[in-house]
Amino acid sequence: MFQSASLSGSKTEQYAELAAQARGLLSGEHDRVANAANLSALVFHALPQLNWVGFYFYDGNELVVGPFQGHPACVRIALGKGVCGTAAVSRQTQRVADVDAFPGHIPCDSASRSELVVPLYRGGELIGVFDFDSPILDRFDGEDQRGLETIAAIFVESLQ
Ligand code: SME
Repeated sequence: MFQSASLSGSKTEQYAELAAQARGLLSGEHDRVANAANLSALVFHALPQLNWVGFYFYDGNELVVGPFQGHPACVRIALGKGVCGTAAVSRQTQRVADVDAFPGHIPCDSASRSELVVPLYRGGELIGVFDFDSPILDRFDGEDQRGLETIAAIFVESLQ
């Protein structure tokens, strides 16, 4: 049975530990929903100051909410809209220090103050996005971005 250990050490060490836990959690499992659900739970409970962690999947037309932890969320997001749709179209992680300053930000949880969204691509194919919301302004720095991009890559690699 998988057991998540509490994170310790420097931030770099903590993200390395979280990545190792994510690999263990997804090991041998290729189901997209199962792995997205478990990764959302892992990250939500491992990292402090998060109010929403989860996935939006591309259905061929728009982004549709998938497994997540947090309050109920907006179901559908058009490509190019909001932080999520922008990440999907630009293929670049969107690290937003203040969601109120992001033009077109879609407020799903009124508690959210900052947000990081990692686009998920396999080859050239859009799978969806991995979205992290915080009630703290400027919660995510470059190290958080790299650490969470690694976790997102572990998810993409788990799909076959
Ligand atoms: N804020 C996002 C919408 C999704 S929620 O944060 C869960 C956006 O602007 O795309």
